Amino acid sequence: MRYILMTLLLFMTCLSVSFAGNRNGDVEARIDSLMSRMTLEEKVGQLNQLDGRRNLPYIEQLLRTGGIGSIMNITDPEEVDRLQKIAVEESPNGIPVIFSRDVVHGFRTMLPIPLGMAATFNEELVYDGARMAASEAYEHGIRWAFAPMIDVSRDARWGRIAESFGEDVLLNSRMGAAVVRGYQTDSPGAPHTVMACAKHFVGYGAVEGGRDYNTTNITERQLREVYLPPFKAVADAGCASVMTAFNDIDGLPASANGFVLDSILRKEWGYDGVTVSDYGAIGELMKHGVARDREEAARLALLAGTDMDMATKIYTGHLPDLIREEIVPESALDSAVRRVLRLKFRAGLFDRPYVGPDLNGGVASSENMALAERVASESVVMLKNDGNVLPLGRAVRKVLVTGPLADAPHDQLGTWTMDSDTSLTVTPLDALISGYADDVEILYEPGLLYSRDKDTSRFGALRSKASEADVIIAFLGEEAILTGEAHSLADISLKGMQSALVELLSSAGKPLVTVIMAGRPVTAVGEISKSDAVLYSFHPGTMGGPALADIIFGKTNPSGKLPVSVPVHAGQSPLYYSQKSTGRPAAKIRSLDDIPRNAYQSVLGHSSYYLDVGVKPLYPFGYGLSYTEFDISEPEPDDTLLSRSDTLRFSVTLTNSGHADGAEVVQVYVRDVHASLTRPVRELKDFRKVFLKKGESRRLQFSLPVSSFSMYDINMKEVVEPGEFIVYVGNSSTSGHSFSINVR
Ligand code: NOJ
Repeated sequence: MRYILMTLLLFMTCLSVSFAGNRNGDVEARIDSLMSRMTLEEKVGQLNQLDGRRNLPYIEQLLRTGGIGSIMNITDPEEVDRLQKIAVEESPNGIPVIFSRDVVHGFRTMLPIPLGMAATFNEELVYDGARMAASEAYEHGIRWAFAPMIDVSRDARWGRIAESFGEDVLLNSRMGAAVVRGYQTDSPGAPHTVMACAKHFVGYGAVEGGRDYNTTNITERQLREVYLPPFKAVADAGCASVMTAFNDIDGLPASANGFVLDSILRKEWGYDGVTVSDYGAIGELMKHGVARDREEAARLALLAGTDMDMATKIYTGHLPDLIREEIVPESALDSAVRRVLRLKFRAGLFDRPYVGPDLNGGVASSENMALAERVASESVVMLKNDGNVLPLGRAVRKVLVTGPLADAPHDQLGTWTMDSDTSLTVTPLDALISGYADDVEILYEPGLLYSRDKDTSRFGALRSKASEADVIIAFLGEEAILTGEAHSLADISLKGMQSALVELLSSAGKPLVTVIMAGRPVTAVGEISKSDAVLYSFHPGTMGGPALADIIFGKTNPSGKLPVSVPVHAGQSPLYYSQKSTGRPAAKIRSLDDIPRNAYQSVLGHSSYYLDVGVKPLYPFGYGLSYTEFDISEPEPDDTLLSRSDTLRFSVTLTNSGHADGAEVVQVYVRDVHASLTRPVRELKDFRKVFLKKGESRRLQFSLPVSSFSMYDINMKEVVEPGEFIVYVGNSSTSGHSFSINVR
């Protein structure tokens, strides 16, 4: 009888609710009616998210009593449906659970790591990649993905820089929004969509010293100008949820931080999606030393605005009593439960709680592989190409392929690859052999077996193969395990004997092409200087091999741009182009060897740089070469005297003046020349990636609202102060034409 009632109830729910957005009156009424029937324990149950890899019998028990709202990390569709059936048919109110997973850069078919996706500077492509990831995840029962990660990341030592879209505010905002749209689409809840979760709210990218989980020092102004805008952008794009960060912000850990969660996210932005803690983060309030016990942790987190508790059971353990004792008002619980139920309606779970029969079977399809290859291809950044050694031409007869990343099917996928299948990976070696071995002889000797390998016993064989080859291609970089969560490094140079390998190869006197496949910008000054050409490929995913092989042989033209500055030395961290002006900007930089002995201090001048490594990155943000040449004409503004409510409009002509078809990323930066507070020397305000045939020109119009040049003044008010702004239009953060505008 109970089953029949439950089925009837679900049927009625489906009849009354066809949910397309989160402000649907029917849905709110349906939520009211559901909540009026829920006990206190059932309500708290909705806020409980547990890891399906742990203690499943206990989770099943909770499903029957309505004591759990979400299950993480189960990706077997049959198991998902079995568990869902318990929730739908046996729990008191038949509320489906929502299955969640870290779908960070693909599911089975792996895209490049997010840092690589950012390097494409191509939002449409990132959108397509996110659609593909969502579709594959959906086929495995996932309806809630913990991505995009939009922590502005300016310290290459931090392992999680791999998961981010890099150092820039706008790039994180636009790429994050592209992922949200790709996951959720305009019809969230339709088959093959998943709910997005923007993380980590907020400031996680600023962990001190790049050490994971560390404390942060972020002023409110920096929070508002740097770390919050990507979250605002994804909230505006309809992102269904937000995950709290592990770090503290000005002393208050994010999961208990009412300033960011309640005052800013809820009240200032009016955000009505779900907030979920990071894994165990509510429990960590005790380790942070701000909660005495689990009960206090529950109270602090809920009252601050953390709706769902990931993996600690602290809410189910303590909220019912805290509410009965009126220590926590029931209204706070109700608001959180309402948001979780709304998420489930939004995900379409009340209409279609089960995985089948809406499958399309497209997991790891040839279309998905082709898309992964395109994203990988556009993510490759050419840093150097002396003597146009690339692309390899017809004269090349024998190519030596070497290095620890040449044939590393696991490592080229990067971090967050639990659902990948390394047997699908096409490595550079595979691709060079399958695509080019008919025309050129491919010799292979890895030299080193993995990035940390210190065993040089293969170097003899390598030397003799190098002497035979016309060209050498060395695939260097990092193993996947050296990047990602909890994998920070103090020294970000190439590990193991990779430098010695490059030394050996360069002594062979053959053109040397170095490909770096890594989860961060590594420091490789020596290796790069000994190479004739360098391609930087952030761990490029399943189809990284063909993407790189086709670039090397000129079938495709590299078009990636750096989403992060490449440091000379880790000691420059944090390193980013949008530095504030100092009172003593770097001037007359000397090298350590030029410093006279026994001189007095003033001999070196007094400016802001390191005596040993200067101040500049090896390669700046936004930089990347092509096989063709692009010219950007002088910008022509419609008007240079503008008011704060105006839009700056200007146009440039982009010309592909070289000998190959290709793409350029036109980048627009702005500098506020004089303000009441110090401003960054440049800030990216717009970018556009344009594909042009050789010889082709295109007129590009840009429209930038003057309001987007805003800052937070001393009273923390968002303002555009009158005065001069310089607008730079170029193809990196250090190049380009400029013009001035005056804002009244
Ligand atoms: C911890 C990570 O910080 C977060 O990004 C991830 O989504 C959760 N674990 C869940 O796996």
